[in-house]
Amino acid sequence: MPQWSPSSWLAKTPNYPHQAAYADQAAVDSAVRSLRALPPLVTSWEIERLKRLLADASRGRAFILQGGDCAERLADCRPDAVTGKLKILLQMSLVLVHAMGRPVIRVGRIAGQYAKPRTSPTETHQIEGIPRTLPSYYGDLVNREAFDDNSRRPDPAHLVTGYLHAAVTLNFIRSLVDRGFADVHHPENWELGFLQKAGLPPELRQKYARLTAELTEGLRLAEAMGHSSPQGPSDRTEFFTSHEGLNLLYESAQTRRVPRREGFYCLTTHLPWLGDRTRDPDGAHVEFFRGVRNPVGIKLGPSTTPDQLLRLCEVLNPEREPGKLVLIARLGAAIVSDRLPALVRATLKEGWTVEPDAPHPAPALWSCDPMHGNTLLRNGARRPVRKTRAFTDILSELVDSCDIHAACGSHLAGLHVELTHEDVTECLGGASGITEADLDTNYATACDPRLNYEQALELAFRLGERLAPPATPPSAPAPPRCRSS
Ligand code: PEP
Ligand code: CO
Repeated sequence: MPQWSPSSWLAKTPNYPHQAAYADQAAVDSAVRSLRALPPLVTSWEIERLKRLLADASRGRAFILQGGDCAERLADCRPDAVTGKLKILLQMSLVLVHAMGRPVIRVGRIAGQYAKPRTSPTETHQIEGIPRTLPSYYGDLVNREAFDDNSRRPDPAHLVTGYLHAAVTLNFIRSLVDRGFADVHHPENWELGFLQKAGLPPELRQKYARLTAELTEGLRLAEAMGHSSPQGPSDRTEFFTSHEGLNLLYESAQTRRVPRREGFYCLTTHLPWLGDRTRDPDGAHVEFFRGVRNPVGIKLGPSTTPDQLLRLCEVLNPEREPGKLVLIARLGAAIVSDRLPALVRATLKEGWTVEPDAPHPAPALWSCDPMHGNTLLRNGARRPVRKTRAFTDILSELVDSCDIHAACGSHLAGLHVELTHEDVTECLGGASGITEADLDTNYATACDPRLNYEQALELAFRLGERLAPPATPPSAPAPPRCRSS
């Protein structure tokens, strides 16, 4: 492999055409200089800690829950939005810990999920009856959502503004977590209030009510035992950040060596991921991420072949470091059964992943993103075309993935979802039954449709049910005794 450096990606032909096209190179250089001089957002020991936890997950001893907005906005850097997102991930993790009996690694798509890949580089809208074409919205790190020339022009100054908002978001998350926001001493943050809501079919309602009672009792018990976290006696609940590593100017400007450790760390986030559109092994993004010590996620869409996947693993983790790669399949409910088995078998056969309870951790683990392969276009009442996703498709891809892993002797070690704590109406279905007619009621996403609070918790319950360890079989009936006459 040729020599890597934080800027070796610049020599690669950009395989991805939507990397922001900035008009003013002097302004780009100035933004990159500012970012280089600013302190890191995360630390190398947090990154190393996450890698150790992921190594546990690689052999089924932990589970990674990754979730948040599709496109985080600078306007979301508000106390209520940050606490809301933290809370929904905490509550989902509680449901999963309770059901699966193993630790859950909580990772937000937060504090930097500001850059979006787009299928089309331009967007056309009718403005007063006249069609108008402008660059697509690439996320707040690049341009702005409003449909006018000025907003849609990529501006390198947004790189620094994005960094500053990520820093403020992270600062608040750290204070909340350090002050015990996520501990059982604050049961209001764990409360699963939605389960009391009407509208659930009676059977589900009963099931959920029973689980809530058990969970509440478990929390009370953990507290009485002096444990501050339902995961065990650890003093603080941990929380990690992640985002798509799309804007390489931003990522490379914050990539550096740190004292007393080998190699380079990308210090914008704990867990950067490569998108389905930027995972070309010969492209600029893979070139950049092959050189960092962080664990790296890879989104794997329907076009992924087993050979491509194995090559990516080799390039991104040549030393086969445990817990380093999170393979995030996002195939779609319709084809997951057709495509996933070959991918899973290939990684097992080549030793990139291992069976549950293997004696050693593996260099990679499997997660499922049941959102991105299940996007539908539907008519909204006010907007002609809305992107949406059906809860049944999301659940079906997730459950099928669990079954496929089990059938292959593998295990699903993570869930990756787009969600919000808010009562949005972006995805169809779920127990509260959102229909196409409801889509316009509260469609608020800046990019893809997200699960709302109820749908997200329902998904966690359903996954928990599927991944719960099998109940111990009732003890075998005693063999008939010989009767003495
Ligand atoms: C995303 O996670 O928002 C995304 C764009 O995913 P993918 O690369 O899988 O399409
Ligand atoms: Co998305």
